[in-house]
Amino acid sequence: MKKLFTAIGSIITGAAIVWGTIVFKTTGHTLKAKVPEGIEYKFDFVPEKLVMLGDTGMCNKGFYDLAAQIDSVGTHVTINGDLGYPTGLKSQIAFDGCLASVFRFSLVSLNMGNHDFYEKKLFKKKMRENYFKYASKHQNIVFDNDFYVNNYNGEICQLVISTYVHESIKASKLEEDQQKFIDKFLVRTDCKIKIVNGHHGPYASDESHGKEKLPKRRKKMWRGILKRVHAISTGHSHLTAEEKAKGKTRVLISGASSKLNHCTGKSKEGKSIFCNDTELGGWEYDTALNEWNAIFLEKEI
Ligand SMILES: [Fe+2]
Repeated sequence: MKKLFTAIGSIITGAAIVWGTIVFKTTGHTLKAKVPEGIEYKFDFVPEKLVMLGDTGMCNKGFYDLAAQIDSVGTHVTINGDLGYPTGLKSQIAFDGCLASVFRFSLVSLNMGNHDFYEKKLFKKKMRENYFKYASKHQNIVFDNDFYVNNYNGEICQLVISTYVHESIKASKLEEDQQKFIDKFLVRTDCKIKIVNGHHGPYASDESHGKEKLPKRRKKMWRGILKRVHAISTGHSHLTAEEKAKGKTRVLISGASSKLNHCTGKSKEGKSIFCNDTELGGWEYDTALNEWNAIFLEKEI
């Protein structure tokens, strides 16, 4: 399973937001996307690899080394929440903004996890806005909305969602808007491969994370997605694992980019078929081979 990265194309050199349109300037590419109800970032190329990591927020040496290994070739990385421990963005600042400083040649897409909402008084609006502001200051960080699509030339469409929206008692307007966006994504016929990213997965997290109940509406949301997309990539449980596939949907957990927990291999419903708790790592999708590989920190670097 261990795999080194091979050379990957585009290096992001700049990004700017124009009213109603997102414009990315990459080496040799200018990319535009209209932003009617949600945001879609359109890329006119397919990266060789797409990397998915979760729970990077310790900003420790292990994460720096893992990130440097990934970044050395420049790729597209999605981070599945818990961006700063213990207090979200505040911790990111305390850690000298490790997300911005370790990924210099990769495009980084974000979504938020439970720790990113740690400060109760700032819950929701302010914390989200702070993250959006933080992303806008960094050319290679994509995070302008709670939910969005990365569209790689119609070959791969990656939906990134916020799973925390299901934790309030009643569905919020944000949750309703996100659900509409998800429903539209699922019926799209212009994407050959669909991947969905978020922090909390479709199953109650691995027992090593402590007993957690899956909020009902989140469970319902995932049930609507399972079997309809190529893969779901999440974080939260601090291990690199694959749960039993549901229909054609691979279920991949990548919550071990800076933290590791004991691997019981027993999430309530998924039942892990692969589980590693000894090395920091994540997942990569090889777009040419249509293959998922677990990636781990090369300790010698
Ligand atoms: Fe989490």
